[in-house]
Amino acid sequence: MNETESLLKLIASRGSIEFDHEREGAWIEVIRKMDEVYSDLLRYEVDLEHKNAELEEAQAFVTNVIESVSDILVVCDAIGLVQQVNSAFQNTLSRSIEDIVGRNIADIIDAANGAKLVQLLKPRGASDVVDGELRFATDGGSSDLFAINSSPRHDHRGRFIGVVLTGRPIGELRRAYEALHKAHHELQRVQRQLVEQEKMASLGRLVAGVAHELNNPISFVYGNIHTLMRYRTALAAYFDAIHGKGKAGDLAALKKSLRIDEILEDFGPLIEGTMEGAVRISEIVKNLRRLSFSRIGEVERVNIERLINTAVLWAVRTKQVRVDVRMEIEPELWVSGNEGQLHQVIVNLVENAIDAMRATELPRLVVSAARKGNEILFRISDNGPGIDMDNIGRIFEPFFTTKRVGEGTGLGLWISYGIVREHGGELSAANDPQGGATFSFALPAA
Ligand SMILES: Nc1ncnc2c1ncn2[C@@H]1O[C@H](COP(=O)(O)OP(=O)(O)OP(=O)(O)O)[C@@H](O)[C@H]1O
Ligand SMILES: [Mg+2]
Repeated sequence: MNETESLLKLIASRGSIEFDHEREGAWIEVIRKMDEVYSDLLRYEVDLEHKNAELEEAQAFVTNVIESVSDILVVCDAIGLVQQVNSAFQNTLSRSIEDIVGRNIADIIDAANGAKLVQLLKPRGASDVVDGELRFATDGGSSDLFAINSSPRHDHRGRFIGVVLTGRPIGELRRAYEALHKAHHELQRVQRQLVEQEKMASLGRLVAGVAHELNNPISFVYGNIHTLMRYRTALAAYFDAIHGKGKAGDLAALKKSLRIDEILEDFGPLIEGTMEGAVRISEIVKNLRRLSFSRIGEVERVNIERLINTAVLWAVRTKQVRVDVRMEIEPELWVSGNEGQLHQVIVNLVENAIDAMRATELPRLVVSAARKGNEILFRISDNGPGIDMDNIGRIFEPFFTTKRVGEGTGLGLWISYGIVREHGGELSAANDPQGGATFSFALPAA
């Protein structure tokens, strides 16, 4: 029996109300029901309090998260009135929350950004997020530039009720990006300039090689022509005597004194020699045209044997040192590419090898090219000291050189690496176990 029941019993016992047994039963039933309702109410209240506490906790959590977010957050209604902001936004504007909430967002952005704001506030479908960039009005004038995302809000009936703007400052990023962009352009310009310079340098080496090559045949063509001119004087004098002009006398004696017979004998070899010189000069000129005038990007079928032979010859000639050169080149190998550029690669590698073998007693260079499947494998080996293990990771970097100032730019391998890569291969370097270095690359066979 609970409190209400005993209270009723008490009233009844005082005689104010008469209870018979039946009525008493009905009353007790009513009281029991009231009791149940009461305890339900109590339970609901406890539940409610519990739920309320949970809700408060959840709200505190959300607020805490929003406040901790370093991005700015602004909630606006459908006409742009600010409903809520986080501290990151207050800090950006250096204003109190009372000074922001309730105002139109148009009044707190930088005046020049009006058109962008219209885009960010426009009503739209649920998943339609709009990006933009804004500056806000601050006490000091204008804030840093912010990258803004605007997400629309809708009520439970799907009506547009405003937007949530989130954003982060990008001024610093933008400045860094612009600086990077500028630096990148500058780097590209310098790189182009360097490639040009290296081209000029290799052109210079080529010209030196050509001069050296041409010197020999030209000097004997020149010498032969000199002799022919002397012979011409003697022959003219002799013919004058035959035809009765000039001084008469014993023709036989004159013929002897003018050495006519020797002259006639010498004529054949002289003309042959001159002819050979001329042929050699024209060969050199032909080679030159093939090597240095092929335009960048011009692709042709390149014969490997001829390519390597000419390149190695140029490089060895230019360096003017005695090197035991061994060629191990399979015949009839072809690649498609730019002959002038590939020539430059071989020249660079051979020149490096020769430089490396400067102090080697019996310098030996082995250049090989062989077919392996669908590729042609090129190898250039020397018996120099090999590449210093500390440097092996850096030799392909631009400007990396161990040569003295003026002796190397450190661009040879960098440029060669680029050319080989453009031709579909990869230039690599290794030291041989028995000493010396080997540079190798493979190109697709044509
Ligand atoms: N065959 C080799 N043996 C040992 N070291 C080498 C060999 N080839 C290259 N190197 C090293 O790699 C460095 C870079 O070579 P790279 O051809 O790029 O420049 P460089 O020869 O120094 O100058 P440049 O080619 O512009 O005249 C060289 O300075 C040298 O130290
Ligand atoms: Mg070099």
